[in-house]
Amino acid sequence: MRVKLAAGNWKMNGTGNDLAEARKIAFASPAPRSEVLICPPATLLTRMADSVMGSPLRLGGQDCHAEPAGAHTGDISAPMLADAGATHVIVGHSERRSDHGETDAMVRAKARAAHAAGLVAIICIGETEAERDAGRTLDVIRAQLAGSIPEGAGAANTVIAYEPVWAIGSGRTPAPAEIAEVHGTIRAAIVGAVADPGAVRILYGGSVKPGNAAEIFAIADVDGALVGGASLKAADFGAIIAALDAA
Ligand code: 13P
Repeated sequence: MRVKLAAGNWKMNGTGNDLAEARKIAFASPAPRSEVLICPPATLLTRMADSVMGSPLRLGGQDCHAEPAGAHTGDISAPMLADAGATHVIVGHSERRSDHGETDAMVRAKARAAHAAGLVAIICIGETEAERDAGRTLDVIRAQLAGSIPEGAGAANTVIAYEPVWAIGSGRTPAPAEIAEVHGTIRAAIVGAVADPGAVRILYGGSVKPGNAAEIFAIADVDGALVGGASLKAADFGAIIAALDAA
């Protein structure tokens, strides 16, 4: 039985004023049965960790460098995230892949660094609209998985997030049958790449909202969501968490 996971990715949003939203999620009553995670910008990690202390809310980074320390101006390492209060880190988000040219090999190195620091790596994969239109979605997914998952990965240290690039921030989502096809493909493709493929959580991400969450969470092999815009407000993220609890 996989524990469901609702993960919020705040991206480049949020200042001290927004800690109140995280506190509302952290101290919601009754506490959700699902695991809940917020990945704020790195500038908020320590303050958020302090302000939600004693709650079940877990915190994550949005990226990490592959090295634990060194001359890499502007970058943040996995041990630094752990030190700041993170238990998770997103690696290979499509915005990192497109804005910063991250390759599968780099994503794998980052996931390896996350594991070495004791963090759970949330490895993101997903096709572009052109790739879907060309009928290449499943090939792209398999190739990204093959290239991005490091040795030693398993359910204890790795979550896979399927985020179709064209669904992110667009208000568009794949049809339930399309999500089911990809999640089933991921479940099959990680056999051999992870120790316990049946136990690894696979999240869907891309325009998850209170209004579509229940339909998405009813799909086989969807173990939760990676939520962008709708995770910024406790009312919306709370509704998504409630839908996941009810699924
Ligand atoms: P949206 O939920 O804003 O579409 O973003 C999804 C995402 O990229 C989460 O990582």
